[in-house]
Amino acid sequence: MNDTPARRLPAAALLLLALLGASALQAHTGEEAPPMALRGAMQKLGQDMQAVTGAIAVEDWAKVAELAPGIAHHAEPPPEEKARIIAWLGADAGRFRGFDAEAHEAATAMGAAAARGDGTAVIAAFARVQEGCLGCHQGFRKAFIGHFYGQH
Ligand code: HEC
Repeated sequence: MNDTPARRLPAAALLLLALLGASALQAHTGEEAPPMALRGAMQKLGQDMQAVTGAIAVEDWAKVAELAPGIAHHAEPPPEEKARIIAWLGADAGRFRGFDAEAHEAATAMGAAAARGDGTAVIAAFARVQEGCLGCHQGFRKAFIGHFYGQH
């Protein structure tokens, strides 16, 4: 058989992709409730941040400037879901909103830095955006999922 490494590689790559796809789909199994609208907004944020990373890598500041407003003004859940989240947060609502505000503010600064082609400032602002993401995830995500999807 003419089964050279070069011919085997595509099959291996496809298998890997299939496995990655399956694990992405399985990431939320075991949950008892339908997805919150916030999750969809977060997935979009994740994609936009990945696109920014790619644009930074090739110093495509115009692309960063184009993506930044979508991160600064990401979609919000509908009012009734928002009310449920705020009610659940209680006294922690201010801290939760603080992380969101940090990400918004830093994304706006990132867009402005990109518009003037200041790569160093773009990267500094990008790090602050990620601190907002990380702060909220570390502080709230596990409890959020436990509360709204019934995982304990
Ligand atoms: C104010 C809080 C907060 C901030 C700020 C925040 N997130 Fe999230 N994020 C959450 C919560 C809560 C969840 C869990 C949502 C769920 O599972 O329904 C989440 C989930 C996610 C997920 C997983 C979605 C999935 O399919 O499970 C991604 C990706 C994500 N966030 C990206 C980001 C990025 C990128 C940023 C910063 C630009 C960010 N988030 C900022 C609260 C936040």
